[in-house]
Amino acid sequence: MEFKNKNVLITGGSRGIGRATAIAFAKKGANVAINYRSDDLAAKETLSLLKGRNHTLYKGDISEKHVSAELINDFIKKYNTLDILVNNAGIAIQHEIDKVDFNDWTDAWLKTINVNLLAVANICYWASKQMIKNEGGRIINVSSRGAFRGEPNMPAYGSSKAGLNSLSQSLAKSLAKHKIGVGVVAPGFTNTDMAVSTLTSKEKESLLDESPFKRMAEPDEVAHAILFLASEKSLYSSGTIIDVNGASYLRT
Ligand SMILES: NC(=O)c1ccc[n+]([C@@H]2O[C@H](COP(=O)([O-])OP(=O)(O)OC[C@H]3O[C@@H](n4cnc5c(N)ncnc54)[C@H](OP(=O)(O)O)[C@@H]3O)[C@@H](O)[C@H]2O)c1
Repeated sequence: MEFKNKNVLITGGSRGIGRATAIAFAKKGANVAINYRSDDLAAKETLSLLKGRNHTLYKGDISEKHVSAELINDFIKKYNTLDILVNNAGIAIQHEIDKVDFNDWTDAWLKTINVNLLAVANICYWASKQMIKNEGGRIINVSSRGAFRGEPNMPAYGSSKAGLNSLSQSLAKSLAKHKIGVGVVAPGFTNTDMAVSTLTSKEKESLLDESPFKRMAEPDEVAHAILFLASEKSLYSSGTIIDVNGASYLRT
């Protein structure tokens, strides 16, 4: 897979899966722009790890409505075209229905849906305008195994990712006429800050048993699937959801 001079925007690219994806695209010759929320140190470190020179950082909380338009505008000012958009940024908040009070319950729903679903819809809105002008493009959204198997400790997270799958498949249909492919990668537990911070120690213990490989995914294994969906010959795979969960949850 070659991405020489392709212009790529990755949300949440400062750490974890986003960082691994940025590294993988840069290695293949792409110009990579990384959006992140607040962790300047991690973002600068990621930038220093990218091969090549035409890479940029964009700080901004994507859950703020105006950020989606600004992000795409700033990107186009620098790179002229947007070839590949990876909506990777996401949050996971623990809020078990029988343990939290109503304020915490509603707060978790609002925050999660805003970042994991509404922000993606808004960024897709502005990005697709540029891709239509450019007569093609790719959008890859990072979902989760939790969309399919349920997330009892984080119901808003599971729901946001199920919604993200539906959004992606709807856009795959509506944007095909513009030669824009929209695909989804749905990881299981992956070795990042998010997985480590949301797992209880009991969950960590049983984690190894979930996959017959007896381990978590590494971020670069998820990045590999993202690059596949962004590659030239994968346009007709638009609408698909690729599981990267080590056979821990098999959909039928
Ligand atoms: N790790 C897993 O086990 C796992 C499993 C299934 C799916 N996923 C999905 O994979 C994606 C990446 O997860 P990860 O584990 O790599 O996460 P992570 O290590 O927690 O990193 C999250 C990234 O998203 C950014 N971010 C979070 N909220 C943001 C916001 N409002 N605006 C802009 N950037 C924001 C963070 O920026 P800052 O550093 O500045 O905060 C960071 O770059 C997520 O969508 C997640 O749901 C992860």
